[in-house]
Amino acid sequence: MTKYLLLPFLITITTSLTENILAQDQEHFEKFARVQAIFTAKCVSCHSSEYAPLGLSLEAGLSYRNLVNNPSVEVPSLKRIMPNHVSDSYLYRKIIRDQERLPFKDEGMPLDDDRLSEDEISVIENWIRSFPTNIWGEGAESDSEMSASSTESSETFLATQLINLPTTRVLGSKTAEFRILHRFAVSNGGGSRTLGSFFGLDNGAITSINVSVGLNKNTDFLLRRSGENKDIELAVKHVPIQQSGNMPFSIGIYAGFDWISRSDVNAKHRFSPNVQLLAGTRVNSTFSILAVPSIAFRSNHNAAIIKQINDTTFQNYTDSRATFAIGLGAQYQPMKNFALTAEYIPRIGGYKGNDFADDRRYDAWSLGLAYKVRLHVFQLLISNSQSIHTTQYIPGSSTKPVPFNQLTKKDPALHLGFNIYRQFKW
Ligand code: HEC
Repeated sequence: MTKYLLLPFLITITTSLTENILAQDQEHFEKFARVQAIFTAKCVSCHSSEYAPLGLSLEAGLSYRNLVNNPSVEVPSLKRIMPNHVSDSYLYRKIIRDQERLPFKDEGMPLDDDRLSEDEISVIENWIRSFPTNIWGEGAESDSEMSASSTESSETFLATQLINLPTTRVLGSKTAEFRILHRFAVSNGGGSRTLGSFFGLDNGAITSINVSVGLNKNTDFLLRRSGENKDIELAVKHVPIQQSGNMPFSIGIYAGFDWISRSDVNAKHRFSPNVQLLAGTRVNSTFSILAVPSIAFRSNHNAAIIKQINDTTFQNYTDSRATFAIGLGAQYQPMKNFALTAEYIPRIGGYKGNDFADDRRYDAWSLGLAYKVRLHVFQLLISNSQSIHTTQYIPGSSTKPVPFNQLTKKDPALHLGFNIYRQFKW
């Protein structure tokens, strides 16, 4: 009997629950209809068809499934839309152009300067908060605790190279990078070695053309060719530990080999493997540091050199040692798109090229000034080293420095150069 008495209660409870859920659902989809209207008006001009940027079509019928709980391609650690988490949703950061949390990726959306109005933004915000909680769970606003994406690994440095040293920044999947690295020569004509030849613009230069591809979110593959001895370098950069909220460092490895392909060079070692450990950290919002302990094997390419044993004895000898060096670097980034970078690569052992007067080498250093515009980085630099490839810059610079107290008489032997980086995403 009691069974029949309870039944009406049970029915009332279940129907009111269901109604509640349905009501939540309906409200959510009504809100989404208004969001879709904004997408259709402001976004689908670019975000549609199979050519939609980063595969993100925002067309009606596709947008919801492309966004909700789907990782962003640019910042894979974030969902494009994370139900009930407004500022953890990458799309939201894009539309409010959250400078703090989109630090160096790009400008925000829509791409042109045609910003969404406050009203449009709150329509989207209200929709993100309206996911039925029985399905999606509560929106614990972890938002305020969210680490700024400036502490995400790929953001520890502005570019994939500091100047010559590789940084812990990787491209990520579905990204390729084309780089042109150029170092002008130092002039030896005229009274002034540097200014007299317009920083070497008048002379021969070394240029390296680089192509790298992100194999996955931690690994890049690099192929490049330098004009110096027609050197071809093949390398892999792997950064498994990436700086994030509770990981203070990015740590990785760069390994590859250089091959001197120029046939008329009388080189003893055409093939030189090299390995570098990469450790970097963004210390605060503007400052990052980098350490790159490096080994370049068989770094002396001289065919045979004559070694002086004592005052009268000379000996033919082949130097197959490796060079050990510790690359040190820093990046100061006072503005979102702008960074000053410095690197110094003291050699600590092995072949240092200091055995003979005509083979003198000096620890390489460089100063750079980088400016990022969307997927490009332009970097202007000066360096005492003209070499670009790993086995070529690690043994040091062959450009003789001029002591500071002589600077007034003669300009220092500096190379002007530039690095241009261009990324492609698909
Ligand atoms: C003028 C073309 C254009 C318009 C308009 C535009 N976008 Fe984009 N969007 C892009 C491009 C290109 C990218 C790829 C990254 C880049 O180049 O910045 C992108 C990337 C994105 C991403 C990152 C996707 C990911 O997986 O990381 C989101 C989110 C996004 N857009 C949302 C929007 C929204 C929302 C609107 C409308 C309010 C919009 N976009 C309007 C061109 C556009």
